[in-house]
Amino acid sequence: MALRVDYTNMMATAVAGGITESEWTGAASAVEAAHARFRELTASGVAGFVDVVADEKLLDQSLAFAASVEGKFDDVVVLGIGGSALGTIALRTALLPYGWNALPAAKRNGKPRLHVLDNVDPVTMAALLDRLELPRTLWIVISKSGGTAETMSQFLIVHARYAAAGIAPAGNFAFVTDPKQGALRPLAQSLGVRALDIPANIGGRFSVLTPVGILPAALAGIDVRALLAGAADMAARCDTQELRRNPAAAYATLQWLSDTAHGKTINVFMPYSDQLRDLADWFVQLWAESLGKVRRDGTFVGQTPLAALGATDQHSQVQLFMEGPENKTVTFVAVKERAVDLAMAGGFPDVTGVAYLAGHSLAELMSVELRATAGALARRSRPNLTIEIERVDAWHLGGLIMLLELATAYAGQLYGVDAFDQPGVELGKQFAYAMLGRPGSEAAVKEWEALPKPDARWQV
Ligand code: PA5
Repeated sequence: MALRVDYTNMMATAVAGGITESEWTGAASAVEAAHARFRELTASGVAGFVDVVADEKLLDQSLAFAASVEGKFDDVVVLGIGGSALGTIALRTALLPYGWNALPAAKRNGKPRLHVLDNVDPVTMAALLDRLELPRTLWIVISKSGGTAETMSQFLIVHARYAAAGIAPAGNFAFVTDPKQGALRPLAQSLGVRALDIPANIGGRFSVLTPVGILPAALAGIDVRALLAGAADMAARCDTQELRRNPAAAYATLQWLSDTAHGKTINVFMPYSDQLRDLADWFVQLWAESLGKVRRDGTFVGQTPLAALGATDQHSQVQLFMEGPENKTVTFVAVKERAVDLAMAGGFPDVTGVAYLAGHSLAELMSVELRATAGALARRSRPNLTIEIERVDAWHLGGLIMLLELATAYAGQLYGVDAFDQPGVELGKQFAYAMLGRPGSEAAVKEWEALPKPDARWQV
């Protein structure tokens, strides 16, 4: 058992109002159809995120680049946003030692610090720029479309710094982008910057196992082969239409039934592991941007994902999960073995408030608290499930990532939406282009100007 999904507490047999056995068995044909359609999408090259696990050529792009710059840089900075950043942040938090960027080089095995600038707040960017030595910094500009305003703005600012310092930029930049489309390709050529590929059939939020996540991970010394092997193992495990044997299909079906048949419109993702806290943010983007859609028949669908962290959020959001509206499922992620553990010492046998803790350990406390919270939620008819992984390492994380990506793709089929597009973010982008004067945004300018203006009656 390397990864197991226990969904007992999602079912009516354990939780009042949970999924009934007839709903579950009744979903089998929908799941078979979803599986078949997803296979077609993969076979016809529309969805490429599964194939990437066996793409040695693509992996070599990252490994060769990382080898060629070994020892040259103290800092690596990813410039990217959304799917171009969240996966790397999740990998960094899960697989690099705690406080990586603050560790001395020897404790980092001589590997560089790894920063991810996933926003355009000038305060953050200026602070980081002030701290870096330009000749010893590598900037990885990541954009699938090669034209995202935030990422291109960051690039322009950093590039100008190099120009002002008289440093030719080619050696301090790498681009990760679509093999053909977008502004980064021609820029790479004119600047002599190396450009790595994001396969055309993989979109941002499904791209963590391409050079988007693999290049920064390889530079920081993460075992990227193990990451991909774990993902490949999970992809093989999920290559069946049988719900009982396919954890990704099971996860998608549980959430889809809970949402559409039981009003569970919110999907809380709650790992009991600091190492996995940023995986929750990555999952939130994946689930939200893939499934929150208008269907062809005009209906609006999609479960709202919410990130939480155990045990911390037991003292915060869990109150809402227990007694607030009955509109949530909770996905716990349990870790069986921790890399280290700390035991609680005794010494206060007469103080009942602490004496019972003596002899127990923090890993045990995490595990007990997860089970206690899951049980308490079930007791209050709040459905929840637990994904248990053996340990947080590259192999298991790869498996977990693939499980969640596949589940999202299946859920797209079950909801009847395209999980791989994001038309809903377009209008806001167009309005921003309109205000910034981007050529070609004349229609957006008109639409923007026709919007109601701020109204003094409604301001305070
Ligand atoms: O998942 C997605 O497609 C988005 O979140 C993108 O990753 C995000 O908009 C950034 O796009 P790009 O990689 O084209 O710069």
